[in-house]
Amino acid sequence: MSNASLLILPGDGIGPEVMAEVRKVIDWYGAKRDLTFDVSEDLVGGAAYDKHGTPLHDDTMAKAQEVDAVLLGAVGGPKYDSLDFSVKPERGLLRLRKEMDLFANLRPAQCFDALADFSSLKKEVVAGLDIMIVRELTSGIYFGEPRGIFEEGNERVGINTQRYTESEIDRVARSAFELARRRGNKVCSMEKANVMESGILWREVVQKVHDEDYPDVELSHMYADAGAMQLCRWPKQFDVIVTDNLFGDLLSDAAAMLTGSLGMLPSASLGQPMANGRPKALYEPVHGSAPDIAGQGKANPIACILSFAMALRYSFDQGDEAARLEAAIETVLANGARTADLMGPEDGTPMSTTQMGDAIVAALDASL
Ligand code: NAI
Ligand code: MG
Repeated sequence: MSNASLLILPGDGIGPEVMAEVRKVIDWYGAKRDLTFDVSEDLVGGAAYDKHGTPLHDDTMAKAQEVDAVLLGAVGGPKYDSLDFSVKPERGLLRLRKEMDLFANLRPAQCFDALADFSSLKKEVVAGLDIMIVRELTSGIYFGEPRGIFEEGNERVGINTQRYTESEIDRVARSAFELARRRGNKVCSMEKANVMESGILWREVVQKVHDEDYPDVELSHMYADAGAMQLCRWPKQFDVIVTDNLFGDLLSDAAAMLTGSLGMLPSASLGQPMANGRPKALYEPVHGSAPDIAGQGKANPIACILSFAMALRYSFDQGDEAARLEAAIETVLANGARTADLMGPEDGTPMSTTQMGDAIVAALDASL
């Protein structure tokens, strides 16, 4: 693979602990599959604040713009709670997302068979589940103007504005159709065109992108509230779901919980293609820095390792190797490997973070 560059930002709390296990996996691919990455590592969040007085140094930002993919652990922690808003660890992550213009947030909900009992839904509803929610991340009601709390007569009014341009809908729709072609070739677009004009435009633009450039992909439209019901009732009917920022926030969190633990959930945020054709990309687990377990070797590294699997698939076109890594994780879980988050209090002794990482590397070895 030519010139595959990767910037690793472990961050705070359990971030560095889970990232150490990802490094083992990266090293394995270099040694055993001849997949080598030009890896650099830098600071983000509280760790960057401690060294530089800012949660993301300009040099790190510049580096992130150059590499093929950024892999981030997690940021934040109680130590930084009293900091001024402008230098809070989260600002480092927000700056990365904003300056890289990462408009498509990919949140898979994938159920490993060995963990199907862990879901709050019936096993047959979730076993084998593999869906992808594409949430628009840079526009919509979280950014629209006017916004604020205003005086109106003798009371106050809180205002936020849902606003989408055709080009913003167009580009995220394209991301969803491209993804669908690499998966089950099906997209369901969700909005509330029944009560929102922005939803009417959303539906029109998604349909147009489909008809003009992706007629081979099966497209359906659903009202987002009905979509929420269908996600709980029969999630396996979906392949790729594309939706706006607000609905995507809710639907992706709900879908995530179909599969059990926060320690299992990866994500990707993608932007426009760069000169080499690869999209701007940031990969990170959904979970935070977990200060309650940080430094104790209890963290589940799988979410972060699965985030690297997404990088293999979506940045480096190594879908087969991503599948190999996911299969290794499936094997390890099927053999009973569990970190504490995947166990009940009476289920025996959990594995440590390092033991889980080592087991996954051993399963990769066994896959050859
Ligand atoms: P959290 O995701 O860090 O933790 C929530 C709960 O899940 C905790 O009990 C934690 O121990 C557990 N957990 C999370 N990841 C786990 C893993 N890999 N293995 C085992 N257990 C795991 O969310 P919380 O507690 O709300 O936030 C803690 C800090 O993280 C805060 O400073 C918050 O701002 C930050 N945060 C950062 C995010 C990011 O970097 N993207 C996302 C969410 C929160
Ligand atoms: Mg959320």
